[in-house]
Amino acid sequence: MNWCKRNIKCGEISDSQLNNEVVINGWVDTVRNMGGMIFFDVRDRYGLVQAVIEPEKNPELAERAKELRSEYVIWLKGVVRKRENPNPNIPTGLFEILTNDFGIINKSEVPPFEIKNNIGTNEEIKLRYRYLDLRRPIMQNYFIVRNKLYHITHNYFFENDFVEVETPVLMKSTPEGARDFLVPSRINKGKFYALPQSPQIYKQILMISGFDRYMQIVKCFRDEDLRSDRQPEFTQIDVEMSFVDRDDVLSLIEKYIARVWKEVLNIEIPTPFVKMSYEEAMTRFGSDKPDLRFGMEIRDLSDVVFNSEFKVFAETLQNGGKIYAINAKKCSDFSRKQIDELTEFAKKYGAKGLAYIKFFQNGEINSPIAKFLSENEIKSIKTVLDAEEGDLILISSDKKYRTLTILGALRLEIARRTGILDSVKDNFSFHWVVDFPLLEFDEEANRYIAMHHPFTSPMDQDIPLLDISPDKVRAKAYDLVINGSEVGGGSIRIHDGEIQKKLFELIGLDEQSAENKFGFLLRALKFGAPPHGGIALGLDRLVMILTGTDNIRDVIAFPKTTTGLSLMDGAPSEVDQSQLDELGISLKL
Ligand code: AMO
Ligand code: AMP
Repeated sequence: MNWCKRNIKCGEISDSQLNNEVVINGWVDTVRNMGGMIFFDVRDRYGLVQAVIEPEKNPELAERAKELRSEYVIWLKGVVRKRENPNPNIPTGLFEILTNDFGIINKSEVPPFEIKNNIGTNEEIKLRYRYLDLRRPIMQNYFIVRNKLYHITHNYFFENDFVEVETPVLMKSTPEGARDFLVPSRINKGKFYALPQSPQIYKQILMISGFDRYMQIVKCFRDEDLRSDRQPEFTQIDVEMSFVDRDDVLSLIEKYIARVWKEVLNIEIPTPFVKMSYEEAMTRFGSDKPDLRFGMEIRDLSDVVFNSEFKVFAETLQNGGKIYAINAKKCSDFSRKQIDELTEFAKKYGAKGLAYIKFFQNGEINSPIAKFLSENEIKSIKTVLDAEEGDLILISSDKKYRTLTILGALRLEIARRTGILDSVKDNFSFHWVVDFPLLEFDEEANRYIAMHHPFTSPMDQDIPLLDISPDKVRAKAYDLVINGSEVGGGSIRIHDGEIQKKLFELIGLDEQSAENKFGFLLRALKFGAPPHGGIALGLDRLVMILTGTDNIRDVIAFPKTTTGLSLMDGAPSEVDQSQLDELGISLKL
């Protein structure tokens, strides 16, 4: 071996090594040649420590040190001493190592960006050089927190009698919701496996097998449009339990979340979490994953303006629609341009327009619909929205849930623009959204689709409605929402084969298709299926919240871009013709 092995890590240098000789290994962070002294920081996963060479005392070392550059890998031997100018910002900041000897183990090209926490480098370059990006301490911390989470999760569920069982990664394609990633079979030409969107059916079958309590930290794959909180492959903490009702699942997960917050952040969080129905979440916050860290609640103006001369409102109400509004506090000084931007933003969510009323400090108002509103109506609007001089009221009218969704999105956008979100970024809010509708009507497909998934049990009291008004049936489903992010979703499942068949029928699967796709589940349900239910938590999203990043790519070691590319290794890539031939595949491009 032509290098010296470390006997301590860079980040561990402390009082106890004072005046002792140590050997460290690591990467050169920065080199500062001050003439009289050469300082350089050496970094490893555990931290950073300053090394120093005194050219007068050791000219040979000083000469060799001229070669040192950032990101070179070195070994270094020296004596720990107190620093003349301590650096309070790093844990080893009181000390430095007076170098006796060092050697370069490996050189590095000049990196395309500096290895430090706050860099403005564009993400494409960072992803291309992911190994360098991951060298940054802030990035390593994301994975240290992630690792802690694996550990707590395994401990917690093990202590609670859960058995971790690995389910297949190559499975039958049963798309519901997102698209499947397909894997062609070589041995069975013309047939395909799918990568699991979740182990949903397997975990239910494990309950039928009598495992009673299952968990798995598991990769899931979904071919869907990507966003800042979505990746095509992501990780779930997947959980299923037998002989339970909804509140058993919720309480187990609340205790788990409380333990995570305590052990990772040393924060005690109160349990049980607030439960809010889907209907309440939508009508108050315009979202099924409302951020409850701030107000700006939606108010219903339908009864206030039902007589107004504004045609849009009158027509909306005649067609069974609604008129809702939010109060953007202290935003009456929003410019025309800002209002236009908000209108464009609302249009992305299906708005046809966005009416507003500015209540100026001098008591005057400005509104494109003022001419259609009586003084009394304006007064009532002001009262309903708790508006004061200086506020801006944004009004939307359309079908009920579309209007609510538009205002829910605007509520967040205004909170973003006015610094409200920033001001609550260190707060946490945990709650359950419950009583979801079982089905929603998909206008495009012209059929009902399962709001959660088609294995979710309807509420017992709503079962008679399955035949008469399926859209009114509520599900035994629940979502865990933290700070406006959907961190988990689950339900009590259907364990009765007949109801399961009925559900397939309702979502437009005829008997034959149901048999082709889910026959194995229907068969299994005939052999003594216990009542069961569970949940899956998005592990990546939990790490995002625990570390305070809003980019899911930060917490996945080798993530994909929003166009599904892995820039470091170039996946997806073309394959050899011989590989395609073996699979019996010809390309139709
Ligand atoms: P669901 O589809 O709600 O439920 O997924 C559960 C949780 O997984 C996370 N998640 C994602 N995270 C990152 N990228 C994605 N593309 C992505 N998609 C989902 C979310 C979500 O809440 N089998 C059911 C669970 C059950 O019923 O037990 C399921 O998969 O945090
Ligand atoms: P118009 O009379 O069409 O110019 O509309 C007057 C105001 O009403 C404009 O500010 C529009 O953006 C707004 N508006 C139009 N359609 C709607 C709608 N469906 N909901 C709320 N405001 C709307």
